[in-house]
Amino acid sequence: MELPRIIQGGMGLGISNWRLAKAVALRGQLGVVSGTAIDLILTRRLQAGDPGGHMRRALAAFPGREMAERVIDRYFVEGGKPETKAFAAKPMVGDRQGQALEELMVVANFAEVFLAKEGHQGWVGINFLHKIQTPMLPSLLGAMLAGVSVVLIGAGIPLEIPSILDRLAAWEPVEFSLHVTGAGGDHKMRLDPKRWFPGETPELQRPLFFPIVSSVTLASMLVKKCQGGVNGLVVEDATAGGHNAPPRGALKLSEEGEPMYGPRDEVDRAAIRALGLPFWVAGSQGSPEKLQEARADGAEGIQLGSLFAFCEESGLREDLKQAAIKSALAGEEKVFRDPAASPTGFPFQVLTAPGSLSEAEIYEERQRICDLGYLREAYEREDGSVGWRCPAEQPLDFQKKGGRIEETAGRKCLCNSLMANIGLGQRRAEETEQPLLTCGKDLSGIRKLAAPGSKGYSAGDVLDFLLGDEVLAEEI
Ligand SMILES: Cc1cc2nc3c(=O)[nH]c(=O)nc-3n(C[C@H](O)[C@H](O)[C@H](O)COP(=O)(O)O)c2cc1C
Repeated sequence: MELPRIIQGGMGLGISNWRLAKAVALRGQLGVVSGTAIDLILTRRLQAGDPGGHMRRALAAFPGREMAERVIDRYFVEGGKPETKAFAAKPMVGDRQGQALEELMVVANFAEVFLAKEGHQGWVGINFLHKIQTPMLPSLLGAMLAGVSVVLIGAGIPLEIPSILDRLAAWEPVEFSLHVTGAGGDHKMRLDPKRWFPGETPELQRPLFFPIVSSVTLASMLVKKCQGGVNGLVVEDATAGGHNAPPRGALKLSEEGEPMYGPRDEVDRAAIRALGLPFWVAGSQGSPEKLQEARADGAEGIQLGSLFAFCEESGLREDLKQAAIKSALAGEEKVFRDPAASPTGFPFQVLTAPGSLSEAEIYEERQRICDLGYLREAYEREDGSVGWRCPAEQPLDFQKKGGRIEETAGRKCLCNSLMANIGLGQRRAEETEQPLLTCGKDLSGIRKLAAPGSKGYSAGDVLDFLLGDEVLAEEI
């Protein structure tokens, strides 16, 4: 199959959901679902009553029926939970994940990919953040059980992934190093895929692997060390939505308080091209001219996030989508590359939006609580065991766990706010979690796609705009 020109980038949490990825894949391009916290998203979709029955349809197709049934029994609420009631908790991800949680991860990643692939033969990928380590192995297995075509991983150095994919495809046990701050020893996450399928194992295909990189150094290191295991590269710059790689050298802030990037952060496309792999460029690439330019530089095409984040099929809450489109149409959008917001310590692009945590009062009002835990950092306790802390939790709790109090300043709970972005935010007796939007620096494409006063645009409109009359692939 010819490689796609457009990659619809993975967008967590649940922004690039199965609907969006499917719409893109149906047009012959690469639709990517986000696998980040997809276990949590599945439990909440089921508790919301699974409108349309899509989750249950996907779970019915899972090769291990009992595993899927356990998930439905545990979380599905017929007709949906009352709006005012809190979502039930699920076990937090960590170094000791019990059987129920690992099953949930396998099943949830399967379901998202299954639905994106349903009824066609197009390209469907899954995206993970390397920094979120403990769900990685069961998530990869789940996505592969659904026949995912490409795995895309950013936010880290995914050296071990290619051989994990090779081994999973052969149903062999796998391990993945867990970064534990202050650790003397070696910590590993382990998974034996046969544990769940002791009898006959379904056939697994080894997906392609495209790491997401922001420097030639990292790209060439991955290509050299992974010996054929890397099949393509996404090269993303610091204007892209979501997290950005930190600038090289000492951190300098602009007058507005944004991390500044310089010539050392620019990626030489010729050097990437010389690595001999297909590549896609990402970050403010949303126009036909940019696509042409990328192709002239030897790229296969472009990866886009922001334009897809606000299209009809994305998982973003409708009111937030409409407000963002309206402000972009008026040319009033403000995107701030926040050096502190993300607990990961990576710069994170924040779209200023009323009613969201981008507003100081709303941020200050929120009680700091860490009950989802995907972005927690593992650290070694004095007795050698692994503890977990997040700089967005209560500063004193963070400090008690050996964290530096200065690190808590300005941190935002992305786990809870990003769930609110997709209409699955937690409701507690005292408060309801509020959203926090992210997107890239360049939203000018929205002004070309959405007519003033219109409801917006579809994923197909984005592709028509980018590809114009060029006939790339027949409808699949
Ligand atoms: C709402 C949103 C969420 C994102 N989440 C992720 C993510 O979870 N993982 C990832 O690798 N990239 C993520 N990205 C980056 C996109 O995949 C893509 O590379 C980027 O948006 C491209 O730049 P653009 O926004 O200028 O089009 C996200 C981007 C947006 C807009």
